[in-house]
Amino acid sequence: MIVMAEQRIKILIVDDTAETRENLRKLLSFGQGFTVAGEAENGKEAIALAKRVRPDVILMDVNMPIMGGIEATEAISVEVPTTTVIVMSVQGESEYLREAMAAGARDYLIKPFSADDLVNTIRRAHDMDSRRRERFAPAPIALRRTGRIVAVFSTKGGVGKTTIATNLAAELATHAHKSVVLVDLDLQFGDVAIMLDSIPVRTIADIAKEDEIDSELVEACLLTHKSGVRVLASPLRPEQAEVITAKHVEAILTLLAETHDFIIADMPQGLNDITLTALDAADRILLVTTLELPAIKNARLCLEIMEALGYGQDKVKLVLNRSSRDIGLSIEEMEKILRRSVDVHIPSDGRVVVPSVNKGVPFVTSAPSARISQTIRDLARAVGPSDAERAAMAAAAGAGAGAGAGVGVAAGALGGGHGGGARRQMSIAGRIFSIFTGG
Ligand SMILES: Nc1ncnc2c1ncn2[C@@H]1O[C@H](COP(=O)(O)OP(=O)(O)OP(=O)(O)O)[C@@H](O)[C@H]1O
Ligand SMILES: [Mg+2]
Repeated sequence: MIVMAEQRIKILIVDDTAETRENLRKLLSFGQGFTVAGEAENGKEAIALAKRVRPDVILMDVNMPIMGGIEATEAISVEVPTTTVIVMSVQGESEYLREAMAAGARDYLIKPFSADDLVNTIRRAHDMDSRRRERFAPAPIALRRTGRIVAVFSTKGGVGKTTIATNLAAELATHAHKSVVLVDLDLQFGDVAIMLDSIPVRTIADIAKEDEIDSELVEACLLTHKSGVRVLASPLRPEQAEVITAKHVEAILTLLAETHDFIIADMPQGLNDITLTALDAADRILLVTTLELPAIKNARLCLEIMEALGYGQDKVKLVLNRSSRDIGLSIEEMEKILRRSVDVHIPSDGRVVVPSVNKGVPFVTSAPSARISQTIRDLARAVGPSDAERAAMAAAAGAGAGAGAGVGVAAGALGGGHGGGARRQMSIAGRIFSIFTGG
C-alpha cells in the first residue's frame, strides 16, 4: 500500500522510560506512514500534548508516575475524541488492560512486542476509529445545506417587499425550474397567501407549537401554489404570531435549505430578533427601497448596521422599486446618500401590478413580457451565487469533506439550540449597541 505523505499517522509516545520511548521511535521508523509528533513522560504531560498536537494515535504506558495511563486515557477520550489510544503494559497486568479499554483505549500491546505487532496494531486501531468517525460524523454543513436563503427586507413599510418576494419566487419556480419555498415572516399581517390567491390550512404557527421541529413537520405545513412555489404562510391571526421565536425561524430556514433550491423570506419592516435571525441566515438580502426621502434615510441606516454586522457587499443587494416614477428625487442623488449604487431597478407599473395583486396571480406569469417582469428576471439572477461565492462554497465543501468535521446543525429538537455557528443570540438593541461601542 502506498501511503501519501499527508496521510501519515501522527503518533504520540507516552512512557516514563526514555529508553522505551527511544526503542519505540526506532520500531516505528521500520513501518512506512508514521510520524512521531511528540513524547511525554507521564499522563499529565500526555493530556496537555494531545490537546496541542491532536495526534491520530497515542501509545500509552499504563504505569507511570504523577499520572498513570488509565486516568490519562479517560481524559483524552473525552477531551480529544479524535485520537485513538493504544495502551502498553507488561505481562501480568491484564486487570489494568481491562480498565484501560473501559477508559476508552481502542487496543493494547503486551511488552515486549515486535515491530510487526506494533505497526499492525496501530494501523488496525487507527483504521477502525477513522471508519467509525466517518460513519457517525454529521455531514458537513456545507454539504447538507444546499439551498439559498434570500431575505426580502426594508426599513420602511409598503415599499413592495411582498410584491417582489412573490414574483421572484414564481419566477424561480416557473422559468428557472427551481424548487422554491416562500416563507411569510410578516408574522402579524403577512399577505403572501392572499397575493397568491391561496387559503392556508396550516401555517408557521403550527410548527412553532410543537416541541420538536423536523423536515416532515415543516413540509406538512407548506401549501403548493399553481406556479409550483411552496408557501409557508404566516399565522391566520396576529396574536398567534407571539408563539414564534427567532429559534423557530432559524430552525425552519435551515431545514428548508436542506431540501429546496431557494427559500425566499418575505419580511416585515424593521429590525428585531426574528428579522435579524433571518437576515443572519440569508445568503442574499434584497434591501428594497423607493425614491422617497424617509425610505432612503432608513435604508442608509440599515446599510450602516448591516455593514457593522459584517454582511459583505455581495450579501446585500440594493433594489429600487418603482424606480421609474418621477417624484422629484433622482436616482443619482439617492445613490449618493446611500453611498452605493442600485443593483436592480424595478419600474413602477400599476397597470400590471395592481390587477396581478387583486387576482392573486404573480405578474411574471400573467404578464411575462412586461418590462417589470423582465426586471424580476434580473433579480432572479442576482440572488444566485456570484463567482466568488461559488469558489468559496467549493472550497468550504472540500475542506468540510476532507476533515469529515462535525459541524452539522442540530435542527431536530428545540432544546438543543439551532446551529447558526457563532451567531449571537442577543437582543437587537444589545447587538446594535455592542457594534457601536465595539463590545
Ligand atoms: N413596482 C410597482 N409598481 C406599481 N405598484 C407597486 C409596485 N410595487 C408595489 N406596488 C404596490 O404597492 C403596494 C405595496 O406593496 P407590497 O405590499 O408589496 O409592499 P410591502 O413592502 O410588502 O408592504 P408591507 O411593509 O406592508 O409588508 C401594493 O399595493 C402594490 O400593488
Ligand atoms: Mg409585505
